Amino acid sequence: MTRNHPKIEQLNDMRLRSVAGGGPQRVEKQHQSGKLTARERLDLMLDPGSFREIDAFVVQRERNFGMDDPDKQFLGDSVITGWGTINGRLVYVYAQDFTVMGGSLSEAHAEKICKVLDMAIKNGAPVIGLNDSGGARIQEGVVSLGGYADIFLRNTLASGVVPQLSVIMGPCAGGAVYSPALTDFIFMVKDTSYMFVTGPDVVRTVTHEDVSFEELGGAMTHNALSGVSHVAANTEEDALFLIREILGYMPQNNMEDPPFEPTKDDPLRTDEALNDIVPDDPSKPYDVKEAIKLIVDEGRFFEIHEHFAQNIVVGFARLGGHSVGIVANQPAVLAGVLDIKASEKAARFIRFCDAFNIPIITFEDVPGFMPGTDQEHGGIIRSGAKLLYAYCEATVPKITVVTRKAYGGAYCVMNSKHIRSDLNLAWPTAELAVMGPDGAVNIIFRRELAEAEDPVARKAELVQEYRDRFANPYVAAARGYIDDVIVPSETRPRLINALEMLQNKRDTNPPKKHGNIPL
Ligand code: HXC
Repeated sequence: MTRNHPKIEQLNDMRLRSVAGGGPQRVEKQHQSGKLTARERLDLMLDPGSFREIDAFVVQRERNFGMDDPDKQFLGDSVITGWGTINGRLVYVYAQDFTVMGGSLSEAHAEKICKVLDMAIKNGAPVIGLNDSGGARIQEGVVSLGGYADIFLRNTLASGVVPQLSVIMGPCAGGAVYSPALTDFIFMVKDTSYMFVTGPDVVRTVTHEDVSFEELGGAMTHNALSGVSHVAANTEEDALFLIREILGYMPQNNMEDPPFEPTKDDPLRTDEALNDIVPDDPSKPYDVKEAIKLIVDEGRFFEIHEHFAQNIVVGFARLGGHSVGIVANQPAVLAGVLDIKASEKAARFIRFCDAFNIPIITFEDVPGFMPGTDQEHGGIIRSGAKLLYAYCEATVPKITVVTRKAYGGAYCVMNSKHIRSDLNLAWPTAELAVMGPDGAVNIIFRRELAEAEDPVARKAELVQEYRDRFANPYVAAARGYIDDVIVPSETRPRLINALEMLQNKRDTNPPKKHGNIPL
């Protein structure tokens, strides 16, 4: 067939129609509202020229309510699906097209998404969903709801098999929120995206609260308050760039290891600044992120949940080219105490790393669990157990560096030797004890202090005695609970050496259908 054969002309014509989305006016409206179109987003996110679209000729089912108008027959319907590459690696994608009937989810739309999810599971590659939709297509009624449920099932089956990433780039409301919520990471764009189960109007009717879209479900609400979203991007371009970056830390699926990325940063590099990072006064804070950046390859740390439960820090980095997940108590916020939100944040991150063969490095400086009725009534027992469970269950290489406090139950929880940690290192500033010196002396010597001539001086003496005896790494090291006490400046070479030593680690859990993490 020559290029201008009528059949080829017809194909070209149909292709042109399918890429036109909802037409120039709706595209213009999309741009005016500060958003890119679905195709522009895919172009930015994928390697140039790598996108292969499928189902461009799918149309919504005929004779739906009010849908007889031929103008409403959009080729491809309201979602664009297919695959492409990011840094040369295969990814499956779907991008909801708001210019076609508000990106609303029809039966056909759902089938297209299900098809790429099925392909991703079968062929072992990540799925990225770009969400921008008015929700269930009202004209299709329950068929549209069925379509959502078909997607939810596949999100759940894909969980732990292939990484699933969601980017919210417009509305995402009602039950529709549960597809992103089932995926591993949710990125939101500031000012132009929102997520909620029920919108401001319903909220006003039911609870009489007056709340804006942004306050109820904007990017910062979900990044700082609810923790539903993991990354807040300033613009759509930033969000798509960050998606490209985060994928570099992940394997394609649960049967692979994450990619090795050679680095110019010397694996034997030491950093003297680490020797001074922990203040002499144990009650003084420091920023653990500074320590992390001094240790990892090229100082690059991809933080997850940067704005949520800041008393614990989690994220991805590389050490000697190996991808690692980092979990670190943050002494600069609430002294690094473990509370409900911090426990859940870290537990979820640990489970992602374990599912996808990413070693976990823990930096520990924790005074214990947060006291108070708020926490107890809110279920800190259950939440703390989630973190404990996640660490216990994980079979990937697990390494801990105790930088300062490892007190009480938090000592056990934060990847102690007893729960299958592979290597436990401590800085000389480490203090491993049932509790801090002050609290310990108050309890053990209550009577003696009450009767002392000078209780203040006697207490200072006892605190010093306790500190000398217990608040150091050597009692734990004498038991083998700490494998070695290291000079802080040597942390990077020691961790890289440990990761290489653990490269072929094999560990399993007893056979079971699945465990019962305290949800
Ligand atoms: C069909 C829809 C639609 C929908 C929007 N459109 N949402 N068509 N079904 N759910 C169409 C509009 O008719 C319009 O068509 C075009 O998309 C753009 O919509 P606008 O309203 O002009 O855009 P905007 O002003 O930006 O407002 C966006 C919006 C609003 C806030 C999302 O459209 C809206 O409130 N839509 C309804 C949201 C909703 O209630 N969805 C159902 C939720 S329940 P034209 O032809 O004029 O361009 C749900 C259940 C899921 O989703 C359950 C899963 C378990």
